[in-house]
Amino acid sequence: MTVSAEWSELPPELNMKTTRNPKELQAVLEQARRKGQSVGFVPTMGALHEGHLSLVRASNRENDITLVSIFVNPTQFGANEDYAKYPRVLAEDMKKLRTVKVDHLFCPSAVAMYPEGYATFVEVRPRLSNILCGKFRPGHFRGVATVVAKLLNIVGVCRLYLGAKDFQQATVIRQLVHDLNMQVQVRVMPTVREKDGLAMSSRNRYLSPDERRRAIAISRVLFALKRDLLQKKGSLVSLKARALGELRKNVDRIQYLEIVDPGTLESVKKRQKNMASLTACFVGKTRLIDNVIIRA
Ligand code: PAJ
Repeated sequence: MTVSAEWSELPPELNMKTTRNPKELQAVLEQARRKGQSVGFVPTMGALHEGHLSLVRASNRENDITLVSIFVNPTQFGANEDYAKYPRVLAEDMKKLRTVKVDHLFCPSAVAMYPEGYATFVEVRPRLSNILCGKFRPGHFRGVATVVAKLLNIVGVCRLYLGAKDFQQATVIRQLVHDLNMQVQVRVMPTVREKDGLAMSSRNRYLSPDERRRAIAISRVLFALKRDLLQKKGSLVSLKARALGELRKNVDRIQYLEIVDPGTLESVKKRQKNMASLTACFVGKTRLIDNVIIRA
């Protein structure tokens, strides 16, 4: 595992409410809880956008104090993925966090999270981790489950804020919290979109102007599929084939487009009351994901 020594020097003027040290954070949060304050926690990898900020706002509405973490987690990136080039823009992120209320910012170094000799990982059962995104990103959800378990052990009792944009991730984390008996309430908040429908993502900044235009097709296709399914405009199989055809015209490579049960993530063969349509595809070299929930 390679880890980068990001943020070894934090700009001093921006260093106010930030903590890099897990023990220090634990102490601060324990003190807060002793005073009876509730804690909301928003884990992120930085390169923040309105999607992240909407989670912070949700936490502020429901908790006395809000903690945000920024950590580009090496264990959830595959060997050929974008760990090295993932945007690390801490000063910019801190400016954005100043526009909403954040009580604590936790940005540990990779070495603090995974010191020499680190040996423990959280395994997610294949039926959940080897489907959809997991099929194309082996080890990804093991890395996500591991870092989220570590973060939640540091943070302790809290409400945890996640985005529905990463639908499979939210499912994996809900299961993790349940299976490991964590005293954490998971809150999954709606996907925030650009005006033209593109789901906000830290990776959108990789897109060229032409790619950015073509990326609109992703949400357009998912919402058209939802409408057609609800209006019973054809069989599930034919509507899915049409959606795939339309998506293929605009993006460069499709990893999957699936209609699943939102609880189990298993593919649905026939229309049912609650469904979710999920896709992952490449526009240029950038991998984008999106989903919509379909409730009849
Ligand atoms: P990151 O991609 O930075 O996302 C942090 C949180 O923001 C996740 O819960 C994600 O679902 C949410 N989010 C991202 N885009 C969103 C959007 N457009 N609308 C609403 N919420 C959105 O997901 C991760 O980081 C990492 O895997 C992490 C959970 C931090 C573990 O390393």
